[in-house]
Formats: sequence, C-alpha cells, structure tokens
Amino acid sequence: MKHDIFSLKGKVCIVTGGYQGIGEVVASYIADAGADVVILDLADATAVAERIAAEYGVRSKAYICDVTNPDNVQECMDKAAEEMGTLDLLFNNAGICLHKPALECEPKDWLKVVDVNLNGVYYVAQTFGRYLAANHKKGSIVNTASMSATIVNIPQGQASYNASKAAVKHLTKSLAVEWVDKGIRVNSISPGYIRTAITGNSNPEWQKLWIESIPYKRMGTPEELAGAVIYLLSDASTYTSGCDMIIDGCFTVV
Ligand SMILES: NC(=O)c1ccc[n+]([C@@H]2O[C@H](COP(=O)([O-])OP(=O)(O)OC[C@H]3O[C@@H](n4cnc5c(N)ncnc54)[C@H](O)[C@@H]3O)[C@@H](O)[C@H]2O)c1
Repeated sequence: MKHDIFSLKGKVCIVTGGYQGIGEVVASYIADAGADVVILDLADATAVAERIAAEYGVRSKAYICDVTNPDNVQECMDKAAEEMGTLDLLFNNAGICLHKPALECEPKDWLKVVDVNLNGVYYVAQTFGRYLAANHKKGSIVNTASMSATIVNIPQGQASYNASKAAVKHLTKSLAVEWVDKGIRVNSISPGYIRTAITGNSNPEWQKLWIESIPYKRMGTPEELAGAVIYLLSDASTYTSGCDMIIDGCFTVV
C-alpha cells in the first residue's frame, strides 16, 4: 500500500472486554494492524495478551478491571499509560446482556445492565478522554453499541439491554461533538447477531428464529467486525466522528 491509511503502527490501543468474544478477536486484528494492545476485563486476560504478543510481534498487557468502577478504571488506565509509555486508541467494548421480560425485571437487574453497558462505557471513555486532553494528544474511540440500539429484538425480552445500547449510540454522538476541538474522534459499531458466548448460550429455539429473520441467514462472526473497528480507529477515518456503523447482515435493512 502506498498510503498505509489503515495502519495502527506505533499506536497503543486499550480494548475492554478483550478476554473473549468480539473483544478478543478484534484485539488480535488491531495487533495485526500494528498496534500494541492493552486488555481491560473483569476476567484475567493475561493468556490472551501473551498470545497476541507472540502471534503479532507487538507489546500486549492485560489488567483485571471492572468498568463499572471508575476508580478501578483510572487505576488501570494510569498503569497502562505508565507501562506502555502512551495511549492512543480505545475499543470500548465490554458489555453484558440480560434476557428477562420487563415485567419481571428487578431494579438490580436493570441497574446491572445499565451499569456495565452505559456507565462502564462512559467511565472508560471519560478516563481515556481526560488522559488524551491532559497530554495534548489526538485519539480515536470506538464504542460497541448494538443493532438493538435501533431495533427491538424478538422474541426475547431485553429492554434493559436495548435501552442501554441506544444510550451508548447517543453518548457516542455527544462525546464526538464535545471533543471535536480536542482532536478526539468517537464512533460506534452496532453489530447484529454475532456468534459469541452471549448469543451461543441463548435458547436454541430463539437462535433458529433469529437466523431465519436475518437476510444473510446466518449470524456474523467477530472477525467480520474487525475491519470496521480498524477503519474507525485509523487515520483512514479522520473526517468521521459521531458515526454509528451497523454491521448486521442486513437485519435492520428489511
Ligand atoms: N454477540 C453479539 O451478538 C453482540 C451483538 C451486538 C453487540 N454486542 C456487544 O459486543 C460486546 C462484546 O460482546 P460479546 O458477544 O463478545 O460478549 P462476551 O460475553 O463474549 O464478552 C464480553 C466480555 O466483557 C467482559 N465484561 C463483562 N462485564 C465487565 C465489566 N464489568 N468490566 C470489564 N469487563 C467486563 C467479559 O468478561 C467478557 O470478556 C458487548 O458490548 C455486547 O453487548 C454483541
């Protein structure tokens, strides 16, 4: 490539929720694009970081971090900045889903989903944004929203998830506008049904119904999200901020 516009060489990227699923796979592709990778996850992702470092010849570290705890997020981000020397990019991806009809949802169920999916995304983005602003650095953030920010999934009840993801989509746009002057771009991806633990452990009858209603007639793979994340993190998208990229095998198109 004459213009290596998708390269992430020389950058350090934080990935939340990188222990497994979308985060783990996309973290590998981010490393393949040249970036050093720091994984923040509730689970110990040391083995993932070691595999990424060995496979892609980049530096990679993992810190156990609960994104719902802003002090813990600050502590991990400080450690990462110190050990890696700098931070440039963020794939803000940790999330959970609860399949429970709204009439049965207890306050604690609602709060848990909103705390991880919305508050967690905000704490991590804010801490990262503060780091960039304090160090007069430009940067790029990609939040993981969902097509559930736009449509309502059936037959399962998941109002807390849908509402939290709609909020992530608008938080993305809000931060994008607030941080234009800082040179910090903020975009989101909105995956459709992607084959990971979240979907794979769901009721098999629902999975059949979901697949029937996807024009592609299959779920997507985490690998099929990597190109969009790299595009939004890289200098290929320097005029793109506040954008939500839906990657759903045409689910929301019909
Ligand atoms: N799989 C799908 O079909 C799909 C579709 C749309 C959006 N998404 C979103 O993609 C993201 C990743 O989902 P996935 O399918 O890979 O799920 P997953 O369950 O396989 O992975 C989620 C990761 O987030 C981590 N995590 C959970 N709570 C955390 C916390 N409080 N602090 C730090 N880490 C935490 C988990 O330990 C896990 O490693 C989520 O935000 C999810 O909502 C998934």
